[in-house]
Amino acid sequence: MTEQNFTLKSYTSNVENGSVKWESPSNIALVKYWGKKENQIPENPSISFTLSNCKTITEVTYKKKEGNDFSFDVIFEGENNEAFKPKIKTFFERIETYMPFLRDYHFKIKTSNTFPHSSGIASSASGMSALALCLMSVEEDLGIDYSDEYFNQKASFLARLGSGSACRSIEGELVVWGENESTESSDLFGVKFEDEIHPNFQNYQDAILLVDKGEKQVSSTVGHKLMYGHPFAKKRFTQAHENLSELKDILISGNLKRFIEVVESEALTLHAMMMTSMPYFILMKPNTLEIINKIWQFRAETGSNICFTLDAGANVHVLFPKAEADKVYEFIKTQLVVYCQNGHYICDVVGKGAKKIG
Ligand code: DP6
Repeated sequence: MTEQNFTLKSYTSNVENGSVKWESPSNIALVKYWGKKENQIPENPSISFTLSNCKTITEVTYKKKEGNDFSFDVIFEGENNEAFKPKIKTFFERIETYMPFLRDYHFKIKTSNTFPHSSGIASSASGMSALALCLMSVEEDLGIDYSDEYFNQKASFLARLGSGSACRSIEGELVVWGENESTESSDLFGVKFEDEIHPNFQNYQDAILLVDKGEKQVSSTVGHKLMYGHPFAKKRFTQAHENLSELKDILISGNLKRFIEVVESEALTLHAMMMTSMPYFILMKPNTLEIINKIWQFRAETGSNICFTLDAGANVHVLFPKAEADKVYEFIKTQLVVYCQNGHYICDVVGKGAKKIG
């Protein structure tokens, strides 16, 4: 597959107006995407669990218009939102070659998240994937017919151009993005991990502990750039390939002990990259470390298979098997909630991907 496979050279349609609606989830990376080349191509492969409860719901209403400019309104959580417009305009510019109808319609983009915008949870993955899916449905409404497989591929391809990690939110339960030797995958879109996952990893739980709900200290765009000329970049990219290859075997064999080691090491490596770049950042907060230490203590004392992962921020994703849910939630309530801002955490579970709801 190349970029050309997604180009739509010409279209004709008499459709004047319509509306489409999708919900699309967030995802949590186990092997992290950190560093990209031109055109949203990742420097290394990544794999993520698709989530269920943290999602964006987006409705796009479209109406034929005169003129040759992009025209759209954004309504976020019921209110007109100017702040999101530049990002969406850039997105339209990037995907125009693949969707030539974008200049022929006015779009009303009504969007909301199931999680608080100020929670520090990245909404770009769910938001950009939901928008990409809506635009794919518009394309279908205009009379362009696709197989389900191609539809998902192109949606993921477009979502990637909005935000890299968004390409991993279309399907579930695990999605690989980025070429590598051990799985069938692509740099251009996310591919569902097709091997049978061991029961240990089915319905895996993710409790997201909201340590810091503030604006991100470092945007991911700036963050990825820190990997240019980074002293450890080359080794890190090689390591991601090795971790992905091992994780693939772990997910099939059910080896929880190695899962924990690979996932926690990936999270700390991501933060180590930020600490050793120029400029350098510490995105963990004291409470992030408190939580990590408590998790390690709980694991040592109880033999639990609980582990953590981190995004490019202070919040902690606590991962554990479904069979341990009661025990772990009790631990979270009694010992970890004190480290969460206003005691807030979100209970999520691995899910199957985006859904068309209108
Ligand atoms: C740390 O996908 O947000 O969450 O492509 O610039 O939009 P852009 O970056 P983004 O980066 C996410 C980085 C990460 C790790 C991951 O999800 O793999």
